[in-house]
Amino acid sequence: MKTITKSIITGGILALSLGFAAHAGEDATLTVNGEITLPVRAAAPAGSPLPELFSGWVFRSTETQAMQMDDFDNPGMIFVDQAWEAWSTPEGSAGKSCADCHGEPESFAGLRATMPKWNDEAGKLYTLEDYINESRVKHMGAEPWKWSGGQMTGMTALISLQSRGDVVNVKTDGPVADMYEKGKEIYYTRVGQLDMACSNCHEDNYGVMIRADHLSQGQINGFPAYRLKNAKLNSVHGRFKGCMKNIRATPFKEGSDEFRALELYVASRGNGLVIEGPSVRN
Ligand code: HEC
Ligand code: HEC
Repeated sequence: MKTITKSIITGGILALSLGFAAHAGEDATLTVNGEITLPVRAAAPAGSPLPELFSGWVFRSTETQAMQMDDFDNPGMIFVDQAWEAWSTPEGSAGKSCADCHGEPESFAGLRATMPKWNDEAGKLYTLEDYINESRVKHMGAEPWKWSGGQMTGMTALISLQSRGDVVNVKTDGPVADMYEKGKEIYYTRVGQLDMACSNCHEDNYGVMIRADHLSQGQINGFPAYRLKNAKLNSVHGRFKGCMKNIRATPFKEGSDEFRALELYVASRGNGLVIEGPSVRN
């Protein structure tokens, strides 16, 4: 049985119903298009605070799970189609398209499973969004896309799809070690009116019902994620922002160093799971 944090009870805003010893669908299998089977649980990496890793898919309802099992039923794929078009459309003062320099999106196979990662040239931790916007601004002479706008999330979905089934393998040492520590600190720091940390929900209470929602481990291997709630693809930082708002905290900005660091730390907690993006969530 999971323990409930004091603040969930005293906060009074969130009602928890207990009685879930485990996750309803932990033995469910995610097969996409009847073709490719994606493992949704994995052994926790060395030093992990979690006994075992579970994809967020495991915690969703049967109906929501089913939508991710067929690309024709996955509403996120509409945005992937749009990104396919954008891929070969020239834009900006250089008159170039992504295709002119990168060939097919397949050339990014495996990339998503290593993100975010250190960019030597920039001397900074880079997310997928950073790379895309750098290409747009520096190489295409085009306007950067909005971090969580439809064009950006469509493109991150198209690129993530090229790593579908690849094992998450995010580096946490070397030049990114400081950002990793910073992300970890943010993850465990209580904030907001409800005085809660990410860990209070996604580490201490996953598998528990919170209102009508089944708490997951808050993994990001399925991002960008199509949410039925807002009918669009959601970026990792967009999701972090939403969770911070829910605990009545002032969220960091999308694309901020805080969220980059948090993305690195959260991604590394999923080392061993496989890339599913774009996933479907409620
Ligand atoms: C004029 C050439 C050019 C165009 C056009 C271009 N890129 Fe790039 N892109 C590059 C170069 C060069 C790099 C590697 C150096 C860097 O980080 O800037 C790169 C790096 C990337 C990376 C990181 C790859 C990795 O393995 O780390 C991604 C992702 C990317 N581009 C996406 C895109 C997308 C999406 C578009 C279209 C919106 C695009 N690029 C358009 C030249 C281009
Ligand atoms: C009050 C509890 C609570 C706190 C605290 C919280 N979240 Fe969440 N989070 C949720 C709920 C509820 C959901 C939706 C159900 C689920 O996937 O767990 C969610 C979903 C997520 C998801 C999407 C997972 C998926 O598979 O789609 C991520 C990622 C996430 N949270 C990260 C965070 C991070 C990072 C923090 C700290 C900044 C945080 N959360 C704090 C309750 C919380």
